Amino acid sequence: MPWFSVCDVKEIPEGSFKTFTLLGKKVAVFLRKGELYAISVMCRHQGADLSRGARQGDIFTCPRHHWQYNLYTGECLSNASLSLPKYPVRVKDARIEVELGGQIYD
Ligand code: FES
Repeated sequence: MPWFSVCDVKEIPEGSFKTFTLLGKKVAVFLRKGELYAISVMCRHQGADLSRGARQGDIFTCPRHHWQYNLYTGECLSNASLSLPKYPVRVKDARIEVELGGQIYD
């Protein structure tokens, strides 16, 4: 699976995130304590965009039916068997790149 160039590193300030649609999947790239990470923001219940939900620290609440997720670990607090996939992320030539790998679910 190829790496997707998503944005310049300067576009995501510390403590914030940006969302992207890659191969039809909504993915957020966060910068947290100097570490970049990429994670799916598609709710495992019915696919709502979790980045549009309420946020308290690392916990995001789905805007549709209020399932809660830790968007740092991917853990679903409402259903422990349904976590969110995280993706490899790297910086190359000052660009952030994300690789979806084999962790795509439908
Ligand atoms: S779509 Fe997220 S809780 Fe239903």
